[in-house]
Amino acid sequence: MFRSCLFKIILICLSTVFIPLGQTSAHIVLQSTRFMSVLPGDEVTLDCSMAAGVRMSSYIMYWYKQDHYGEPIQLIIKENDKPTQNYEAILNTNDNRFSLKVSKVTAQDSVTYYCAAGHMHVYCDSSASQAYFGNGTKLTVLERDVKEPEVEILKPSGIETRCKKTITLVCVAEKFYPDHVSITWTLGDKEIKENVATDPYATQDKTTKLFSMTSRLKVSKKEFKPKNKYRCTVNFYNGTHDISDNTDEINGIEGISLDIN
Ligand SMILES: *[C@@H]1O[C@H](CO)[C@@H](O)[C@H](O)[C@H]1NC(C)=O
Ligand SMILES: *[C@@H]1O[C@H](CO)[C@@H](O)[C@H](O)[C@H]1NC(C)=O
Repeated sequence: MFRSCLFKIILICLSTVFIPLGQTSAHIVLQSTRFMSVLPGDEVTLDCSMAAGVRMSSYIMYWYKQDHYGEPIQLIIKENDKPTQNYEAILNTNDNRFSLKVSKVTAQDSVTYYCAAGHMHVYCDSSASQAYFGNGTKLTVLERDVKEPEVEILKPSGIETRCKKTITLVCVAEKFYPDHVSITWTLGDKEIKENVATDPYATQDKTTKLFSMTSRLKVSKKEFKPKNKYRCTVNFYNGTHDISDNTDEINGIEGISLDIN
């Protein structure tokens, strides 16, 4: 009974927190570490805190996990639960901190962990917008050597198609491990946020364990001038450092803007 109630709440929370909000209530619960890498057998502690002025003691705190992108998230443990063989929830309300200790990690523990805060006395029929999720911490239990991505912008397609007003630049990041990456596009030194479509997750080669991921940028032919330099940057977290010097760039092509009327 309680479980199905919780599930309902989470579903609704997911749709409210992850899709439209982003900047508002999502910032009540903070998970400042986006990625973590550990070795098999290690013990790892994930941390969660609250936004300035928000008291953790006014909420019931939970840890959830999601195995893969798009899969349902599952409750692991909540505050004051007894530790299990693998998990221990550690609440420190004085410091506004809630932690999850995962012991003797194996490849199965390579998932994304979400910290969540729910109001006290949540009933099934109460408004579910009263639970808040952090941004998640993606943990990788390393199964091979770390490797930085190779980055390439493919030759633009659609140039030959005279009637098309746009071209698509495809940035391919490949042969990296683990999948602790994000892809950004810049024009000159300005980040481009519009007309960008990035894969929601990286795909893995079963044999080599290496990942690849792509991002597509649509550019109008009018803008694709030789003086404009488009750069794709793959930000990679190697376990200790954020590395952002894996990039490729391409300039616009002379005359392409004359293709269209
Ligand atoms: C959470 O993610 C959103 C969207 O990506 C971002 O704008 C925000 O800064 C993140 N919040 C924290 C606390 O990292
Ligand atoms: C991560 O990057 C830093 C800085 O480039 C480097 O010193 C370190 O050895 C790298 N770690 C791994 C595991 O590759």
